[in-house]
Amino acid sequence: MISAPLNMIKFDSVDSTNTYAKALLCSGEPLTPYTVVYAKEQTQGRGRLGRSWHSKEGESLCMSLIIPYVQKPCITLLCALGVCSALNDICENVQIKWPNDIIVGNKKLCGILTEATAHGTVIGIGINLNSTGFPKDIATKATSLRLITGNTFDPVCLAESVASAVFHIAEKHQGELDAEIIEHYTSLCATIGREVSFSGGKGIAAGISEDGSLIVETKNGMEEVRFGEVLVSGIY
Ligand code: BTN
Repeated sequence: MISAPLNMIKFDSVDSTNTYAKALLCSGEPLTPYTVVYAKEQTQGRGRLGRSWHSKEGESLCMSLIIPYVQKPCITLLCALGVCSALNDICENVQIKWPNDIIVGNKKLCGILTEATAHGTVIGIGINLNSTGFPKDIATKATSLRLITGNTFDPVCLAESVASAVFHIAEKHQGELDAEIIEHYTSLCATIGREVSFSGGKGIAAGISEDGSLIVETKNGMEEVRFGEVLVSGIY
């Protein structure tokens, strides 16, 4: 897998592991390879598209990985593949909702927040581990490893296996998608073949382009969606 041990910086509580990791990257301090910022609890966890990310101590895994390269849009898809490969050892039918939500049975199990800085990229990973229920607004949309498998999980052990898998794929592919990796991603992507709507229109998700965009067959022809919210029929 990876060629050196993980460098885990652990907190009982922090505002956001992504915020801490970004500050660390930008501080100019030399960083040990495979650095992971891990917290039992976050007080101001952040999600994609400016949303907040709520998690409870003991119920969730919250960590951020520091990747030494900069401005590679495909890193976010590669990370989703890394998380899937680690979770595949624990449960079946792990899939991806484009670009990088990890889902099981069409419910969200894990969210990933990728943030680029001038010094490197931070990959924030939040996994629902031991929750047995969720707040009303997300109760039908979210799931946890406990709900799926009936087992409870140690967050640190899982953090180590997920982080190793993500660093491995990020290092191997250097943030680039080749034909083989696009095929692999497509085979795991539950969005493909479904009706989707995005800010510019709607259509059927048909594939993934070399830069990681979602290719959508619309009434006006093929369109590429690079970022933003995509609503997918049948998935939360
Ligand atoms: C999303 O699906 O909106 C992405 C959620 C990402 C949450 C993780 S938890 C660890 C890291 N720190 C944060 O503040 N956010 C990410």
